[in-house]
Amino acid sequence: MAITEIIPGLEGVPIAESAISRVDGQRSLLEYRGLSIETLAEHSTFEETCYMLLYGKLPTRTELSDFAADGTRHRRLKYRIVDLLKCLPEHGHPMEALQAAVAAIGMFYPDRYNPNAAQKRLSCLRLIEKVPVVVASFHRLRNGDDNVVPRRDLNIAGNFLYMLTGNEPDPQATRILDICMILHAEHTMNASTFAGRVVASTLAHPYCVVSSALGALSGPLHGGANEQVLQMLERIGSPENARAALARMVETKEKIMGFGHRVYKTVDPRAKILKKYAEDLCRRSGNKLYDIAAKVEEVASEVLSDRGICPNVDFYSGLVYAELGIPRDCFTSVFAMARVVGWLAHWLEQIENNRIFRPTQRYVGKVGDAYVPIADRR
Ligand code: SDX
Repeated sequence: MAITEIIPGLEGVPIAESAISRVDGQRSLLEYRGLSIETLAEHSTFEETCYMLLYGKLPTRTELSDFAADGTRHRRLKYRIVDLLKCLPEHGHPMEALQAAVAAIGMFYPDRYNPNAAQKRLSCLRLIEKVPVVVASFHRLRNGDDNVVPRRDLNIAGNFLYMLTGNEPDPQATRILDICMILHAEHTMNASTFAGRVVASTLAHPYCVVSSALGALSGPLHGGANEQVLQMLERIGSPENARAALARMVETKEKIMGFGHRVYKTVDPRAKILKKYAEDLCRRSGNKLYDIAAKVEEVASEVLSDRGICPNVDFYSGLVYAELGIPRDCFTSVFAMARVVGWLAHWLEQIENNRIFRPTQRYVGKVGDAYVPIADRR
């Protein structure tokens, strides 16, 4: 059936059948494999959520402990990857370092091509475990600190915080990051997941799939918004300034970072959960940015919510990450280290029933133009 109408941004166009996650944008609902994000945030862990996203069911106790233990075996980076990170410009963006490292990591594993089930599992474990280690290692190395060896006695969130600071991670901070990673793990056919599925459909290997998706996520309209929200809040400066600042942004059609969504036309359910953690952490630390954020949300809701422009996952996540001591330019990388499992679940689903993506276009250029010798061109 030929579609002749151009659909900008493929809005509303289903490009695959998927059983991984579901969003209802009218009812502020997000489910992974049929389980609500609220339930998972309360009762699950990132490792358990990874297993469920990849294999479609909650693991038994043994399945989970094997999955987590297998994963920690693959946490360490090859020395040459650490050397690669040392060679990268320290002022480069952490997402650029991550994308470069992921593409390079794949080169060490011949089983990346034509993988059987066990090799697919191994690729998934390596990527899920190594991506957070790359993020923390690049941060240490760009600061001139020595790299630290990842620990196997900590979960993914705890080891990330340990590697970032070199100190024993606080258990509550670890649990909050663990929950943030659950919230960011998967989100149906977003831009970076779609990019990953297109690359998966060519039968490129999973390290390529993830490095391609990382490129898509790095953009400010997608994963890059969380960094920009804090800059916006600092620019606004106080809750009293929020109304005038927002009026100016609406007037000049400037996008309010952390607001709006292609699917959610009500508040993103992840933003609701993150808001509670942001408030609690900022109250305890005395960080005034939360009060500005809450005022921005209140004022923006007055002027934008009737157009379905509401807070999304990026609006409060940056405040939480800042309170956890995560450097601001690593916020998008923290989003990425959670979303790797979502991209891999879609990789597995795509290659199960694959057809290479090759859309068409409507040609609007010149036809039958004459070649003019350069001497005669003006
Ligand atoms: C994520 O897709 C996903 O699932 C993504 C994500 C995931 O988990 O993977 O949920 C993660 O990417 C969250 C989004 C983070 N990005 C931002 O916060 C950046 C700011 N948001 C906008 O750029 C925008 O809302 C998008 C990109 C998120 C959605 O863009 P759409 O669906 O293409 O909407 P649009 O740009 O066509 O806007 C429709 C209208 C426009 O007004 P008109 O030109 O029709 O008058 O709404 C306006 C827009 O100007 N609008 C906004 C706005 N977002 C949309 N106006 C002010 N501020 C905003 N944030």
